[in-house]
Amino acid sequence: MREICGKSHGKLILMGEHSVVYGQPSIALPFRAVTIQVKLEPAGNYSYLFSDIYEGPVEEAPKKLDALVGLFNRLRHDFLSSHDHFLIKVNSNIPVERGLGSSAALSVAFIRAFFNYLGKDLPNEVLLDYADFAETISHGTPSGLDARVTAYNQPLYFKKGETAQPFHFHTPYWLVIADTGISGNTKQTVKNVRDAYESPFASRQIATQKTIKHLGVLTTDLTQALKAPQPSLEKLAALINAAQHDLAALQVSSPELSWGIDYMRQHGAVAAKLTGGGGGGCYYALVPDRQTGEKLIQALADSPSACQSWLMPFSSESN
Ligand code: MEV
Repeated sequence: MREICGKSHGKLILMGEHSVVYGQPSIALPFRAVTIQVKLEPAGNYSYLFSDIYEGPVEEAPKKLDALVGLFNRLRHDFLSSHDHFLIKVNSNIPVERGLGSSAALSVAFIRAFFNYLGKDLPNEVLLDYADFAETISHGTPSGLDARVTAYNQPLYFKKGETAQPFHFHTPYWLVIADTGISGNTKQTVKNVRDAYESPFASRQIATQKTIKHLGVLTTDLTQALKAPQPSLEKLAALINAAQHDLAALQVSSPELSWGIDYMRQHGAVAAKLTGGGGGGCYYALVPDRQTGEKLIQALADSPSACQSWLMPFSSESN
């Protein structure tokens, strides 16, 4: 039988999480160290999901899979009928709820598998339309960044409501990505920032709006700094550290993230910040070279601040 499968990968937001929801720019990279594959097989009387987080009838899937269930029902409604059933097999090593885009990647892989089953072409606009639909179920008011970076194979510069632009840059530096092992709830952190942004208390509202704008300025500066023929390590480090400061001010960091970020800075990182929705999840560090990155990975292995870590060149060619 023809294998009906769809794939996607994780994502790493370099800068702009949360502020991107309010129209500020963001930069994100595909994170291919973690990937997902969805396989579909037509089935008889009911649809059944096999995944690490749940195995059982699709209709009884837990709330955290609402987006997948909603997407499945909408795609069946748009192209087939609710009497068409499938076995859905999800094979993923993207840690869930850690800011690496697991929910968007699951949607993108599922949409690709579904269109493969239909034997239909899948233009990017259609893929993004369905992925945005699923992301709205996942966390209310998504910017669309996660859907785009898990759908495309290259680093992106993205502003909400605009077409994502490929973003090319080269640096001799490296990134270390680490996972606190603690779940972050993006829906909740996005809501908390929204509450502060629209707070009835003027001082809170003003401070939040100012921080969001400042994150936008930092991201624009990072874009410029990365486009320089020889990006300055000091400049990049100052911008990344400043963004972490702002994210902490928005209260989307967490004690475990702060602890891990400090630990990285004490073990060779020139800068570190959280990545993704925060409240837990992953963080990354900028290091001057591969050797420092390898030592940092070793130091993380000996500490409770990360359950997993990865090393990658900080360059769009290798992403
Ligand atoms: C989550 O990965 C990124 C956020 O900026 C939310 C969004 O862009 O929709 C926190």
